[in-house]
Amino acid sequence: MKAQGRLAGRCWYTLALAVLAVGALSVAAVSRDDEHVSENDEQSDSVRLKTPTGKAESVPEGRRYLDASLSVDERVEDLLARMTLEEKLGQMTQIEVDSVNPGDVAHYGLGSVLSGGGGVPPDNNPEAWADMIDAFQEEALSIRLGIPLIYGVDAVHGHNNVVGATIFPHNIGLGAAGDAELVRDIGEATAIEMLATGASWNFAPVLAVPQDIRWGRTYEAYSDDTDIVTKLSVAFLEGLQSIERLPLVVGTPKHFVADGAVEWGTSEHPEGWRIDQGDTSIGEEELREVHLAPYKAAIDAGARTVMGSFSSWQGVKLHGRRDVLTGMLRDDLGFDGLLVSDWGAIDQIDPDYRTAVVTAVNAGIDMNMVPYDAQRWVGTLKAAVQDGDVPLERIDEAVRRILRVKFEMGLFEQPFAVRELLPEVGSKNHRALARRAAAASVVPLVGGDRLPLDRSVGRVLVAGEADDVGTAAGGWTITWQGRRGDITPGATILQGVEEAVSAETHVEVSRLGHTDESAEIGIVVVGEAPYAEGVGDVEVPALSEEDHGIIARARAHVDTLVVVVVSGRPLLLGTATDLADVVVAAWLPGSEAAGVADALFGVEELTGTLPMAWPDAIDQIGPGRAKPWLPRGHSG
Ligand code: BGC
Ligand code: BGC
Repeated sequence: MKAQGRLAGRCWYTLALAVLAVGALSVAAVSRDDEHVSENDEQSDSVRLKTPTGKAESVPEGRRYLDASLSVDERVEDLLARMTLEEKLGQMTQIEVDSVNPGDVAHYGLGSVLSGGGGVPPDNNPEAWADMIDAFQEEALSIRLGIPLIYGVDAVHGHNNVVGATIFPHNIGLGAAGDAELVRDIGEATAIEMLATGASWNFAPVLAVPQDIRWGRTYEAYSDDTDIVTKLSVAFLEGLQSIERLPLVVGTPKHFVADGAVEWGTSEHPEGWRIDQGDTSIGEEELREVHLAPYKAAIDAGARTVMGSFSSWQGVKLHGRRDVLTGMLRDDLGFDGLLVSDWGAIDQIDPDYRTAVVTAVNAGIDMNMVPYDAQRWVGTLKAAVQDGDVPLERIDEAVRRILRVKFEMGLFEQPFAVRELLPEVGSKNHRALARRAAAASVVPLVGGDRLPLDRSVGRVLVAGEADDVGTAAGGWTITWQGRRGDITPGATILQGVEEAVSAETHVEVSRLGHTDESAEIGIVVVGEAPYAEGVGDVEVPALSEEDHGIIARARAHVDTLVVVVVSGRPLLLGTATDLADVVVAAWLPGSEAAGVADALFGVEELTGTLPMAWPDAIDQIGPGRAKPWLPRGHSG
């Protein structure tokens, strides 16, 4: 039924284009074959499309909003004037794919559907994604006003829920690379892979400026320095939004604001998280200087959507703060796009759901990432509007912003997946870019003068997690938390070593570092197993006992010991720095982790520097920390 709908939609669209192509001035009749059309004064309306060359036909009686030759504001006002309260509330609703039942898109007139981490079609491949999203889109187009939905994903290091997509290094590694041009290219490649599957809304970049590496989201940020975060997040956003084909992809600076300032021990998350979603007590000046500044730059660079932060500021949840969401974001920074809530974050404002909803909407949230129960949200907000607790003008304002973004993106003109881009998903070019990025993010912590390694070495021992795509990719890969193992195609660090060394070199692999032979070079990959968000909050970020064991075993058999730390943040390395000749930080290099070996063996130049300080004792972590072992900017 959905498939038929898509074909019908397609046929209509193709036909309309064909009519225009032969220069016919007659009006292509639109019949929306649909039982949902209730108030059918609109049903037999006629439409003319903007020609591909931009020459507009005269037209639509009735549905002026479909006339692409009108200004965005005219289209928004025309459409808004036709909408019922229910239709408006539907536009303000975003539901996660796993909670969307058949018929819900049409029933609620959903403004948006998202894939959370791991919200994937049963058969997880790029084409199945396109089918899934197009089917939602057909349903959205099939109802009375035919407003396209906007499909959201967290493509935070590539289109990372999709098996077969290119997985780029997480942002902390790109902070180490420090190359805006590279990050821009990654934004562009990510947009192309998204468009191929029908997703045009990216919940990225993260603008957090994290001040405490115990936070499980540290790796989602580029750096703990405002200027680096600003430079690279703007580069990503510009790359992402630069693809000149419809629909335009939009990015989402998040999480507004000061999520990176949360303090250890303040989280009230029911699963025992310690810092994520917690509180920051910093003063307004610091909030503005350190944490708000990147938003100003991102908005000036064309950000059209922003996401709120789960966290609170001075004890009050940010999703309920009008002084911040409207005062700072709108009045001070001049943002006129769409403000979306984070995942169920409105619910945390107040134990009474209705109070929470009224507070958030009046504070300035335009769309709610509900994400589970549409009925509860829509019903509650509707009652609040009818009782006058939320003014209708506030609803109109929110819907205006949502529609404006959809019109600007060209979603009304081209709502579907751009399938001719499917071959670009995980393409050779994109993987080469990711591999270059992985190489560029490598930072020598100690012994950098012993690099590059000799490619014609006789024997190399490789130990630890060197052959694991999942570990190198980290959280937010295929699933929310990520996981070890062959979760998606990629080229591992081991593969990179094998490619870098000479044909005569013998590469021995021993995960735990056991061997009977000695080797000139040992490469031991240790660090963190994948995690995301508060699940990754840890009191003492450090190498594990197991890691130390592997390092010690390998040490006994090799001349030059290279320890590669794969992690989402700096870790306390303990005796590893004494045992190893070389220690490098590789962060979370992604599916093309082979690039790390390229950097070690001189296939690529070593240019990375620390995007944040690296401690070697616990008192160097968190607010008021002691002078760090290695400062930001270090490379050695
Ligand atoms: C995260 C956001 C993310 C959203 C959707 C939330 O838990 O905080 O960063 O965009 O989920 O997956
Ligand atoms: C989803 C994530 C989301 C998280 C929030 C998970 O189930 O997959 O996208 O960020 O819940 O708690």
